Amino acid sequence: MIDLHCHLLPNVDDGAKNIDESIALARAAYSSGITHVVCTPHIHEGYFDNNIDGIKQAHQLFTEALRSENIPLQSHFAAEVRISPSILKLVVSERLPFLGYLNSKPVLLLELPHSHIPPGTEQVINWLKSQGVVPMIAHPERNRDILANYGKASWLRGKGVLFQLTAGAITGTFGEKVRHCATRLLSDGFADVIATDAHNLHKRPPELKQAFEILQQQYSLDKAKELCIERPMEIAGCWFE
Ligand SMILES: [Fe+2]
Repeated sequence: MIDLHCHLLPNVDDGAKNIDESIALARAAYSSGITHVVCTPHIHEGYFDNNIDGIKQAHQLFTEALRSENIPLQSHFAAEVRISPSILKLVVSERLPFLGYLNSKPVLLLELPHSHIPPGTEQVINWLKSQGVVPMIAHPERNRDILANYGKASWLRGKGVLFQLTAGAITGTFGEKVRHCATRLLSDGFADVIATDAHNLHKRPPELKQAFEILQQQYSLDKAKELCIERPMEIAGCWFE
């Protein structure tokens, strides 16, 4: 399986605190059947002021450690970018790392605040699309506006974005309301990719296998493969060839 959203890089955000934690997470990911990861640290102005150079550097450290620890996990880097007007100039100056490409268009992992869908979201999405960038909304099933009004998910989807659902939402780690929302998004065909959004070993582990099994039982093996292997590889496979 391939994980397109995780916080495995050391000391860049609220994920792995140091390289030892990164390695422990990488080991856990690999032993749960994840063979490839795209590490996606937060870029969130004023909270996690990461940039492409710092992320690249942390990723270099990470891949060196994977090699010296003999962990055969394949890795690349991107970012989980918080929606804000400042991302416009970062896109123009090519300062945002993409998850990969879908139909030759770059895919940007875009994070909304958990609390709501902020005013201006539609404008940012439209602008990104006008630049040829495909926004992939991270974990829509955990957004409180969407939890309160499912119509907002359909509305967002109608803007031509992709949806990344979190494995833990499908397994119930985030509670029944979130699980229900994730199930509805899946049933409506709104899920494009399942990822772990792993941050640590105890509460937010790099675990995809359980979600894969639930998808296989509730839908089909083909559906599980599409969301956990095929679509993610279609997007990020370019990094691993
Ligand atoms: Fe995340």
